[in-house]
Amino acid sequence: MTKVIAIVNQKGGVAKTTTAINVGAGLAKHNKRVLLIDLDGQGNLSRGLGCKAKGRSQYTIRDALINIQMGIPTAPDKGILKARFDPVCVMPCNIQIDAFALSLKEDPNRQVYLRRYVNTVRQYFDYILIDCSPSLGVMTQNALVATDSVMIPVDPEFFGAEGVEQIVATMTDVQRSMNPALYLEGIIIVRRNNVSREKRTTAKNLRIRYGSKVYQTELPTSVKASEASAHGMSLLRYMSWNHLAKMYASLVEEVLANERH
Ligand SMILES: Nc1ncnc2c1ncn2[C@@H]1O[C@H](COP(=O)(O)OP(=O)(O)O)[C@@H](O)[C@H]1O
Ligand SMILES: [Mg+2]
Repeated sequence: MTKVIAIVNQKGGVAKTTTAINVGAGLAKHNKRVLLIDLDGQGNLSRGLGCKAKGRSQYTIRDALINIQMGIPTAPDKGILKARFDPVCVMPCNIQIDAFALSLKEDPNRQVYLRRYVNTVRQYFDYILIDCSPSLGVMTQNALVATDSVMIPVDPEFFGAEGVEQIVATMTDVQRSMNPALYLEGIIIVRRNNVSREKRTTAKNLRIRYGSKVYQTELPTSVKASEASAHGMSLLRYMSWNHLAKMYASLVEEVLANERH
């Protein structure tokens, strides 16, 4: 059975993309067939896996969605790339998705295109991870409609917990309307700096509020995170012995263990 997980947080810089890349790479290490869908116009996931956009001519998720919108038959694997070094597949994205998102304003079906796309590729993968942009706009809505579950990385700084409330409220709306089976996969505490008392309190409150939905594994800071991305590969591949890489491996164990329950 294929599992689809959207990585969501309306804040930027909370490690959504880094988590998508490294959880994807970690699942691949467990022999899972993994597709990572980049849904952010910044294209950080595509670049971070060595699938650099070759300008405007590159086929991206936006083209796949347009073809679905227009009813143009397309091979399910069209546009899917192999990551440069990691054994995962990537559906890239670039800035053109933003104009497409705007064009959807009047379209009554605007929230369903990604789900239709995911349904065409689902059977070829064990895991599909969707890396969302820092917003709860129409593309993230598409992700919430298309996905089975949601993973939320949280930097427990001030407002970190309130941001989670907003995502959960948005999830509830989508559950009521278009995706009744949607559920919370888990919350990841991204501890860039564990000395601040404020952050410790927020992390503790998240554990009280969301209980076992918060992963035991917390992600420490490592300068190697961005270094690996600059080399176009996951940190797990770049430096598997790094402390953050080890924590990502441990997070993946938790993700797999939850699957068995
Ligand atoms: N655990 C970490 N320690 C240090 N830097 C990190 C960590 N995780 C991510 N980063 C870096 O922080 C920046 C933002 O991370 P990113 O994954 O792009 O966040 P988002 O996708 O939520 O905007 C990137 O430069 C990334 O390399
Ligand atoms: Mg990102």
